[in-house]
Amino acid sequence: MGDRWYQEAVVYCLDIDTFADSNDDGVGDIRGLIGRLDYLARLGVTCLWLHPIHPSPRRDGGYDVTDFYNVDPRLGTLGDFAELLHQAQNLGIRVIIDLVVNHTSDEHPWFQAARSSPDSPYRDWYVWSDKEPPDRHQGMVFPGEQTETWSYDRTAKAWFYHRFYNFQPDLNVANPEVRAEIKKIVSFWLQLGVSGFRMDAVPFIIELTEPGNPDSPKDMDFLTELRQYVQWRRGDAVLLAEANVEPDMLPTYFGDSGGSANRIHMLFDFMLNGRLMLALARRDPEPVIEALRDTPALPVGGQWATFLRNHDEIDLSRLTAEQRNQVYEQFGPDEDMRLYGRGIRRRLASMLGNDRRRIELAYALQFSLRGTPVLRYGEEIGMGEDLSLPGREAIRTPMQWSYKENGGFSTADPEKLVRPVVDKGEYGYQKVNVTAQRRDPRSLLGWFERMIRTLREAPEIGSGTTSHIDVAMPPGVLAHRADGPTGTMVFLHNLGTEDVEVDLSLLATEADLPIDVLTDRNYEEVGKLDSLKLAGYGYRWIRIRRDREL
Ligand code: GLC
Repeated sequence: MGDRWYQEAVVYCLDIDTFADSNDDGVGDIRGLIGRLDYLARLGVTCLWLHPIHPSPRRDGGYDVTDFYNVDPRLGTLGDFAELLHQAQNLGIRVIIDLVVNHTSDEHPWFQAARSSPDSPYRDWYVWSDKEPPDRHQGMVFPGEQTETWSYDRTAKAWFYHRFYNFQPDLNVANPEVRAEIKKIVSFWLQLGVSGFRMDAVPFIIELTEPGNPDSPKDMDFLTELRQYVQWRRGDAVLLAEANVEPDMLPTYFGDSGGSANRIHMLFDFMLNGRLMLALARRDPEPVIEALRDTPALPVGGQWATFLRNHDEIDLSRLTAEQRNQVYEQFGPDEDMRLYGRGIRRRLASMLGNDRRRIELAYALQFSLRGTPVLRYGEEIGMGEDLSLPGREAIRTPMQWSYKENGGFSTADPEKLVRPVVDKGEYGYQKVNVTAQRRDPRSLLGWFERMIRTLREAPEIGSGTTSHIDVAMPPGVLAHRADGPTGTMVFLHNLGTEDVEVDLSLLATEADLPIDVLTDRNYEEVGKLDSLKLAGYGYRWIRIRRDREL
């Protein structure tokens, strides 16, 4: 076992307001989540990542905060949150929360004060320009929903910068007071007992915005400073960052001090995410092999966080136009399924045509690749999306717990729900819900439980090194291995439809009673590894060696 918990964690992300409603007002809440912790424990989750929990007008799913030191009253109280931390800890589950400090809501008292007068002590907490910046229409994150990054504020009589929506003014991180405040926020939640933060929009937090310069310099030192601060306040706390940047920039986000990461502990692997989608679309593992080959070596303590789906659109912007079109063709054929000219707003099950074999294959692959797996709520039961909802809300529908009205999410009048429950068709709660799957070992949920349990016995994946096994393979098949102090695992995943046979006899000398530990079906024994059968969309996780002494 590694000694860093996050390297062998299973992270589960959710929005409290769509998870479970305990007081029947139609909005999920903290007490509802507490009531479902046993479900998460059984699934094998070891760390929860909660999307923003703070008071917010929620014009961007809570990523528009009005008070960093409180919990949105719709979700509960600070007391409820402390109780959640306690109960989760009892079940061995850590909690990390979103840290959204690139910007605030325009309704935040800081911004209200800042705009009210040039003399306000908060004026310099935001980024202003007296003149209209020439790059006003550049750098938008939400094309189609956002037309500019600088907007004129009549009250302030000045232009303010907002990398995201115009109701999300960017904080000025160059200001030492803002830095001090961010540390205070971090400290506050660490004192309460969170195990770290998912840091939102990191490349933009550290941007030293200059009006007229769409490519403003970045202050990486702030990340070093924050890391030191966090680690001193709580030794085992982690920073998990969203930094969807060019691959050659990634190492600078981890930082390197004598070989050890001294900035971010974990980065989401956006590059791998796009390549995984491309590989699934093409039924060809080559893009994943490239991703494994191209990812930079990490400093000690640095770790990838892998994912197939998150709360945003699948971002395909790092693929070429041709590759993107291949993914669109397969997984987002209708215009309505696409978003921002770069992504897809669907859940994985529906993208894969609800083909159980392919869903298992995709998740077996993600969870076996190097890094810490992140799973989005509802994926474990194969939920679908609601394309009648705007933008990213399509994939933010309530969790489907049972056959009861509103899928057991809430007993409120359906009209009052924070978002409608999917209640029609193949993915409606009548067909897809936890109750239906909980007692059925053959269900997708049963499969996830088994797969995650198997992962627990394979610490090499999270803490070891992963490499592509570079020998001739039948088309469609990826062979990779994970090596660590505890032993070696070998993985075969067939992205293609044909049944094949694989020869891995070159590994025979390393093998010590090799054995299948997770497979899509019963295969003949592994034997000498020279004629391993693999069905179309099949997978085999094979332990070839276990070093017990360690
Ligand atoms: C991140 C979040 C996204 C949010 C944006 C603005 O990209 O993942 O959901 O809209 O930041 O805070």
